[in-house]
Amino acid sequence: MVLENATIALIGSGVMGEAMIKGLLRQELLPPQSIIAADVHTQRGAELVEHYGVRFTNDNALAAAEADVLVLSIKPQMMSRVLPGIRGHIKPDALVLSIAAGYKMQKIIDRIDCHCVVRAMPNTPGQIGEGTTVWTATPEVSERQRLWASAVLGALGRSLYVDDEKLLDMATALNGSGPSYVFLLMEAMIDAGVHMGFSRQDSQFLVHQTMLGSVKYAIEAGLHPAELRNQVTSPGGTSAAALYQLEKGGVRTVISKAIWAAYQRSRQLGEQNDD
Ligand SMILES: NC(=O)c1ccc[n+]([C@@H]2O[C@H](COP(=O)([O-])OP(=O)(O)OC[C@H]3O[C@@H](n4cnc5c(N)ncnc54)[C@H](OP(=O)(O)O)[C@@H]3O)[C@@H](O)[C@H]2O)c1
Repeated sequence: MVLENATIALIGSGVMGEAMIKGLLRQELLPPQSIIAADVHTQRGAELVEHYGVRFTNDNALAAAEADVLVLSIKPQMMSRVLPGIRGHIKPDALVLSIAAGYKMQKIIDRIDCHCVVRAMPNTPGQIGEGTTVWTATPEVSERQRLWASAVLGALGRSLYVDDEKLLDMATALNGSGPSYVFLLMEAMIDAGVHMGFSRQDSQFLVHQTMLGSVKYAIEAGLHPAELRNQVTSPGGTSAAALYQLEKGGVRTVISKAIWAAYQRSRQLGEQNDD
């Protein structure tokens, strides 16, 4: 039990904070009383206490003082307000784990004078424990703290460690924003099904299941996507007709440009946070 006897505090108990609490408890990584949720909304805290049995405070410094792992799950624009308030209250051997998009580790270090920092980029499927998180750590993060980070992020799903913080901006564009691209494709396919004559419910079922099955099959088969695509593309067939239209519409270039735009935006926002 990696997190045995550890206390985790989450500053910011919104969507992602709750997803972490849920995942930690679902995986029985630690008891509810070892989790402290901190937020500005007392009503929100009451709900979390009632639902999960965790502790709650709206005093961030108090939460920070008890934490072995201090999760910063607030919006990036709140960091400049929150960090000075917890400075000097963090335990010397605590790990600070930030999921604030685009907020650089050096900025955190400068503001709280604590060098053991992990920065992570999760995504929304983390809310059901099926997320993908990319994370990195400062050199000062110990082996034990890395295990803590890996366990805490594991509450959201699968994770990938990278040793260069620059990859976090790329991750923001690929896995962070990734679900929005998938949902757009999903929506377009469902609408196309309705256009042909399926009920929305049936079309939705067929698209959801096709996406789920395709991903599971791709993972299990371990083949290049082009090979998998060729398997369902008979000469002169229906898939070939559809793929011709997708290629003609520049779908690959559009996807590539979209992800590149997200990457540039992520870097831009990161610079804006350098206040
Ligand atoms: N949601 C995602 O899919 C996703 C994916 C990747 C990364 N992230 C990152 O995860 C972080 C949290 O996102 P989220 O979607 O969970 O945001 P959220 O739902 O808005 O949760 C943040 C919570 O923190 C509260 N808060 C604001 N100021 C505070 C303060 N001074 N002290 C304590 N709590 C405070 C917020 O209250 P108010 O609502 O009143 O501000 C809110 O309840 C963000 O930095 C985001 O970039 C999110």
